[in-house]
Amino acid sequence: MNLCVGLTGGIGCGKSTVSKLFAERGAGIIDTDVVAHQLTHSTGDAIPAIREAFGSDFVGSDGALNRDKMRTLIFSDAIAKQRLESILHPLIFTQAKSELQPLQNKPYVIITVPLLFTSPTFQQLVQRTLVVDCSENQQVSRVMARSQMTESEVHKIIAQQTPRSVRLQLADDVIANDSSIDNLTAQVDFLHKFYTSSQNNN
Ligand SMILES: Nc1ncnc2c1ncn2[C@@H]1O[C@H](COP(=O)(O)OP(=O)(O)OP(=O)(O)O)[C@@H](O)[C@H]1O
Ligand SMILES: [Mg+2]
Repeated sequence: MNLCVGLTGGIGCGKSTVSKLFAERGAGIIDTDVVAHQLTHSTGDAIPAIREAFGSDFVGSDGALNRDKMRTLIFSDAIAKQRLESILHPLIFTQAKSELQPLQNKPYVIITVPLLFTSPTFQQLVQRTLVVDCSENQQVSRVMARSQMTESEVHKIIAQQTPRSVRLQLADDVIANDSSIDNLTAQVDFLHKFYTSSQNNN
């Protein structure tokens, strides 16, 4: 098996941006957000269980998950959030694991897992963890610039995630995404060399 690095970080910290930079350098890429989307589109494997647990109201006429309705529900209902996660997480894990096999010809694999530090299963899958980090103010302004979310909605999501200090403590490697994209790129270049050279050490 080649080196598998778990990439995580809070909302808007720059996971997708960093993942793209690694992809451009030849890394194998798996994104559990993309997998979750695939599982909940019209023919997705999670749809039958979601229909069973939440009712057909949560599945649109096209057969896909009604994302807006589900987002509203789980935002205020922790039990519902847990129920959705208990359906999705095992399916996401199985799918992500199956995507690793065809990437064995890559020098290493970057797998983006927003919930990495609350998922022992995913932590077992990876040999190193990489956290992309920025200040909470930067998270809020970047997410607000990207979407329709209000400042208080972003703060609420941040409060539900692993605290920044815990992420930084648990990380093997950290990318500080608190300045320019050029600076971010330089950090990715450094880690790309490191991960490429450590590919045979596992
Ligand atoms: N260094 C930077 N300078 C300016 N803008 C940035 C920087 N890094 C990322 N961004 C922008 O901030 C936003 C959030 O970045 P990105 O989507 O990569 O974060 P993410 O961690 O994947 O977020 P999510 O948790 O929602 O998936 C994007 O619009 C991105 O273009
Ligand atoms: Mg992202």
